[in-house]
Amino acid sequence: MTETENCRSMALTPFARDPYHNFFEKNKMAFLKVDEKKFDDLESVLSSKQCPKAILDRDEMSIRYEKFATPIKTTEIPPTLKKDYAITYLKMALRLEKEGLTLTNSEFLSCHVDFNSEPFFKDFSSIVKKSNNTRFPFIDFINNQYALISLYNKYPRLIGLARDGGKLDIEDLMAIEHKFANFFLSALSNLLSKPLSKKISRFVKVYPFLYKNKLNPLALVEIFKFLFDKNRSAEGVINLLLKELQSLPNFCFEGKWTDYYSSIDLEATFSEKSNWKINYQGNRAKAIIKVLEEDADKKYTLLDTGSNQGYFSLIGSNLGYRVTAMDYDVASIDHLYRRLKKEAYRYELLPLVVNFSNLTSNDLQRLRSDYVIALGFTHHLWYVEGYTWEQISNTFSSLSEKVFITEFKPNTKGRGSKTIKSLAGSRYELDDFTEALKKNFKTVEVVGEYTAEASTAGRLLIVARK
Ligand SMILES: C[S@@+](CC[C@H](N)C(=O)[O-])C[C@H]1O[C@@H](n2cnc3c(N)ncnc32)[C@H](O)[C@@H]1O
Repeated sequence: MTETENCRSMALTPFARDPYHNFFEKNKMAFLKVDEKKFDDLESVLSSKQCPKAILDRDEMSIRYEKFATPIKTTEIPPTLKKDYAITYLKMALRLEKEGLTLTNSEFLSCHVDFNSEPFFKDFSSIVKKSNNTRFPFIDFINNQYALISLYNKYPRLIGLARDGGKLDIEDLMAIEHKFANFFLSALSNLLSKPLSKKISRFVKVYPFLYKNKLNPLALVEIFKFLFDKNRSAEGVINLLLKELQSLPNFCFEGKWTDYYSSIDLEATFSEKSNWKINYQGNRAKAIIKVLEEDADKKYTLLDTGSNQGYFSLIGSNLGYRVTAMDYDVASIDHLYRRLKKEAYRYELLPLVVNFSNLTSNDLQRLRSDYVIALGFTHHLWYVEGYTWEQISNTFSSLSEKVFITEFKPNTKGRGSKTIKSLAGSRYELDDFTEALKKNFKTVEVVGEYTAEASTAGRLLIVARK
């Protein structure tokens, strides 16, 4: 049997990382079922530049995603990726507009990001024929995408608020930037009838954009024409939004951990092609490479928890793993995304903003990977977040399919430590950690003691296998 025949004869099984049961899986690819009647309509849409990663698979009556990573939450998408996606979304809307079609959904959820981390449009069910009542959702786009990007751009320090998966939206922008207008319009809408107040609150939402464009009367005229003339094409306003987003400078973010790799030339590390190991000369990095090399080039998934800007995640990617890097430092994850973009998305590495302490059981399923690494991380969970070794072991066991690589750092407390642990009856001892790991993993081995790059503090490297 040839490989293609073999592939065809295999049945689709539920996609293991999808707790919402939308996706199926075969040969490490994800499939999304589509209604047969929609196939022909989808064919032209899918051939566009905005969704090249979605392939129509007639054999499976599905859309096929070859490097699908996992269903992603809006709060996990790094800010620059959000901005890039908003541009992709608008280009898609522009293309549809010319074909008499439009989009009903304007949320970031219509964004598809696979292991290559480049954002694409995926919400095909929201494409409908244009009519007087169904037009490009200009106001909703401002509310759902533009306002947040505008907030990040003007008030980079606010990213701290989004750190724990918190939401920033137009209400925040209005409260900060247009206090008086916000108060006046809300008060007015309370005094008026419901339909009228609804109209006004919709106006409140476009207000930041109108305000921003106040120096450009032509833009204002275009927006008013679109809002008040139902037959007006959306091309003008979409182009305005596009111009606005494309002209934004890079976000200037810094977080508590963003400087962590200041002694490493990350630029050179990411741009290196064939001789990547040259940037991993330290003994710690070499030891980690050695463990990961055992399963190199098998397209195994790897999750790097507390990844910072992805120095170790990149080892996995270079060795042929499909990597998800997660950290709650938004700026670190954003820098990682920008590097991947600069490298033309050639790595299989997906950066996500995730707070480990907020993981739900659905999240554990979405992120579960063959290999999980937690380097320079567990002492923070123990000291700062108040985890016991049992909790650490249980959570990483839920995340790991095969191997868990971690460290124990003696003589430390962790940045921002609250040292409340003695209350929980848990001791910060290597034996306590390894004993807890043994309850969930078949073998637990301390493979050596190493120091981190630009640090003299030793740490013990632990490899736990299922
Ligand atoms: C000491 S650095 C280690 C970075 C990298 N793993 C390494 O070993 O080079 C710790 C990282 O963990 C992240 N971190 C700490 N607590 C976290 C949490 N609850 N959720 C996600 N990331 C967290 C920090 O933002 C920081 O980037």
